[in-house]
Amino acid sequence: FITSCMNFSTDTSDIYRYPLRFPDPLDSDQLRASRDDLTIAEQYTLDSLQFNGSLPGPTVRIKRGERFQVQFQNDIGQESIIHWHGMIVPPDMDGHPKDVISEGIYSYDFAINQRAGTYWYHPHPHKITGPQVYRGLAGFFIVTDEEEQALNLPSGDYELPLVIQDRKIDDAGNIYYDPSMPERMMTGYLGEHILVNGIPNPYHEVQPRPYRLRLLNGSNARIYNIAFRNEQSFTVIGSDGGLLPQPVETKELLLAPGERADLLVDFSNGFSGSSAELISKEFSVPSNGGMMGNMSQMMGGGGPEQGSEFPLMEFRIDNTSGTSSSMNLPQQLSEVNFPTEDDAVRTRRIELNMEMMTGHTINGRLFEMLRVDEEVTQGDSEIWEFVNNSAVPHPMHIHAVQFKVLSRSGNRGLHPTETGWKDTTLVMPGERVRIIIQFDAPKGLYVFHCHNLEHEDAGMMANLEIT
Ligand code: C2O
Ligand code: CU
Repeated sequence: FITSCMNFSTDTSDIYRYPLRFPDPLDSDQLRASRDDLTIAEQYTLDSLQFNGSLPGPTVRIKRGERFQVQFQNDIGQESIIHWHGMIVPPDMDGHPKDVISEGIYSYDFAINQRAGTYWYHPHPHKITGPQVYRGLAGFFIVTDEEEQALNLPSGDYELPLVIQDRKIDDAGNIYYDPSMPERMMTGYLGEHILVNGIPNPYHEVQPRPYRLRLLNGSNARIYNIAFRNEQSFTVIGSDGGLLPQPVETKELLLAPGERADLLVDFSNGFSGSSAELISKEFSVPSNGGMMGNMSQMMGGGGPEQGSEFPLMEFRIDNTSGTSSSMNLPQQLSEVNFPTEDDAVRTRRIELNMEMMTGHTINGRLFEMLRVDEEVTQGDSEIWEFVNNSAVPHPMHIHAVQFKVLSRSGNRGLHPTETGWKDTTLVMPGERVRIIIQFDAPKGLYVFHCHNLEHEDAGMMANLEIT
C-alpha cells in the first residue's frame, strides 16, 4: 500500500493512487446528544496511536456561543493532555503540560466565544508531544458563526478540511518515530511520505466550481509552500484566527507547522484538462551563520529536503457534468479590530538561540514546568519581537491569544495570511518578527513555544502568566 508510493514519477496516476478520505465528524449535535459519556479514547493501532481509531482524529464542528464538553480518556499508558490550538479557553482547559494525566479521564468544558475559524487539537505533554501527534493524535476543531455563514462560502461537499503531514512508514505500513540526535536537536523530524488526511498523496474528484479548502499543517517540522503545479493563483480568505478582512490572491503560500490557511479555489477557471495538482513549491530557508545552516540541511535525515519541491495531492476535475458555477466574493470578508502599536504598553524581546550544549532556547532558557517566564497584565496590549539568532526556522505559537503580525525584517514581508488573526508565526533564521497581542484570556498559566515539535519537546517552550 505505502511502499509503492516511493517511486515518484511524472505520470500523475502513478503518484496519486488513493482516494482522499475525511475524518469522522464529531459535531455539536453529537456532542449535545451524549455530553456525559462522549469519550475520545486513545488506542494503539498498527503500532500507532490514533484517536477513536482514525488518523487524523474526528473533526469537531461547533458554533460560536455553544458549550464544548468532552471527556478525554487516556488509555495510552503514558502522560498526555489535550490542547485546543488557537482556542481561547480558561487555563485549566488549555492543556498546559503540568495538567497531564497518565490514566483515566480529564473533563473539558468550556464556552466557544471567539470568531469562526479553523482551529485544531492535539496532545501537549512535555517532552513527548512530538511522538504523540506524529502517531495520529490530532484533529480539526472548526468553529462557525453568523458573520461567516452570511458569506455563503462553499460548504458541505464543497468545503474540504485538509491536514497535511509527513511521515516515515516502515515496510509493514506502520508509521514510525525514531529521530536521530540531529533531528531532535536541529531540524526536527522530517517524513518521507506526504499524507493528506492520513492518505499518502491522495486524489479527490471535484466539480468545476469554487471549493473552500481549510488547510492545516499538522506536521512536526516540515514547512510547505502551497501552490498549484500550473501556477494557477488562488484566493486566501482566512488564517489561524478566522476570516481575513479582505481576500488576498496569491500563487504560493508558506504554511509552517501549526498554521492554518483558508483558501477559495475555483476549479472551473485556470486549470486546463482535468488535473489540478497541489504541490509544495521550492522555497529558500535563509542561511544564518553559514556552517550551522549547511549542517542542518545535510542532517535532515531522509525525505525531501526542507524547501524542495514535491507533490501533495491531485484534484481530478469532472468536466463532463456540463455545469460550472463561479462565485462572487465580497471585497469585505469580515470585521476586524486589531490593536494598534499605540495601544501597546511595552515591547518584549523574545530571543531564539541555538547553543551546542542546550539546543534551542527561548531567551537563553529551556522549559521548566512551573517557572513563570513572562508575566503580562490581563487586558494589556504588548508588542512581542521574536528574534531568530539560530540557523533553523522556528514557527512560534502563543496559547490563549490571537495576535496581529506587524512586521518582518528582511525581504519576505508579511504572508497573505498575516493580514488576519494569527496564533503561530514563522520566524526564519536571521529574522525579527514583530507582533501585537492583546491579553484578554482568563488569568492563569499558559505556554508559548516553537511548533517544531522536536524543538518544543527538547525544551523550546516557556510559561506565560496572565495576572
Ligand atoms: Cu499546537 Cu502549544 O500547540
Ligand atoms: Cu523551533
